[in-house]
Amino acid sequence: MKIPVHTASHQYDVLFGYSFLREAFASLTAITDRADRIIVLTDEHVWAAQGENFTQAFPFAFDVLVLPGGEACKNFEQYTACQTYLLEQGATRKSLIIAFGGGAVGDLSGFVAATFMRGIPFIQVPTTILAHDSAVGGKTAINHPLGKNMIGAFYQPQAVVYDIAFLETLPEQEIRSGMTEVIKHALISNAAWLEELFARPIYGYTAEQLEYHLSKGTQVKADIVAEDETEQSVRKYLNLGHTYGHAIEAASGYGKLSHGESVMIGLIYCLLLSERYGNITRDFTVRVLRYALSQQYPFEAVAKFDFDILLSYMQKDKKAEYGILQFVLLEEVGKPFVQKVDANTCREVDAELRQLLTEVHV
Ligand SMILES: NC(=O)c1ccc[n+]([C@@H]2O[C@H](COP(=O)([O-])OP(=O)(O)OC[C@H]3O[C@@H](n4cnc5c(N)ncnc54)[C@H](O)[C@@H]3O)[C@@H](O)[C@H]2O)c1
Ligand SMILES: [Zn+2]
Repeated sequence: MKIPVHTASHQYDVLFGYSFLREAFASLTAITDRADRIIVLTDEHVWAAQGENFTQAFPFAFDVLVLPGGEACKNFEQYTACQTYLLEQGATRKSLIIAFGGGAVGDLSGFVAATFMRGIPFIQVPTTILAHDSAVGGKTAINHPLGKNMIGAFYQPQAVVYDIAFLETLPEQEIRSGMTEVIKHALISNAAWLEELFARPIYGYTAEQLEYHLSKGTQVKADIVAEDETEQSVRKYLNLGHTYGHAIEAASGYGKLSHGESVMIGLIYCLLLSERYGNITRDFTVRVLRYALSQQYPFEAVAKFDFDILLSYMQKDKKAEYGILQFVLLEEVGKPFVQKVDANTCREVDAELRQLLTEVHV
């Protein structure tokens, strides 16, 4: 299956398939033929789990740089290591980077590609469920000690090759993480699809089912990015759950809770806000919370942090303008909107969430 992404700056395809790396790259010779060399950037966990499969199927010669696993590769040190490696290997403006990994490798590699010699082509080969979101849309970034994703660029890949077979070694925590973004895409776009997701557990999907849901999520993202590449308007909707979620993620220390586990908590917070500003009912919020609890999302994290700590993180969010917090909320499922919310209301709704978590059980 192929999903085209049309942005103002560039057009490319997201290719979905199962064990189809060789075939997929055979259809991308217009890109690969122009490359004087191919450099694969990956991380140690991905390479340990899937490096052999990649090497067997990838149809061209390549050099590979294996970075520290997960979020640990998204920093200045590893960014510099990549640039040094490219220079030492004699990479040029015609060299092609392949980002083989999850969102962390993808975000780092994209930023490396965006800035090496002012920009060289790159292709995303995602290996996580979450990366159906992160590999599409051209946001690239590394973390600064003072904040996540603070240093980056909008830079679109030449293509995304999504081979579902690579997902087979994903740890459970990463299934939770990625499925949050799938659920987020359903919440902002399509009530019937959301019902399909809630009708079964997030674990144990077949490859075919995963391809169905991930391609639907990618389509939602592609449509939004086509309309608004650089987040002036509708692209903000993709941040549903992320303001409070990022605060939980940051307060926990990156790497403890996964990105999507934190965002799931943020989604419930947004549903509570949406009860006030939109038409979401308490019954609906409780239903989503119950589902998330039944799938082992770690809501116990909330009680570990005072609201003031979370607030200080939320105020540092890139989406906060002049210190005023902005949330993406839902009028109803499929109808997101952006709402400014004052700190007092945030505090009240945070208390509501804490109360709800003492009352609702699976
Ligand atoms: N650019 C965007 O639009 C965007 C959107 C959402 C998230 N993100 C970013 O994406 C990152 C999170 O991405 P992620 O959830 O994919 O996490 P990740 O890349 O950190 O991967 C999660 C963990 O799973 C391991 N892993 C990855 N694939 C594996 C596989 N197939 N088998 C076994 N282990 C595997 C990784 O090494 C890592 O330890 C965050 O940094 C977030 O900021 C970016
Ligand atoms: Zn996210």
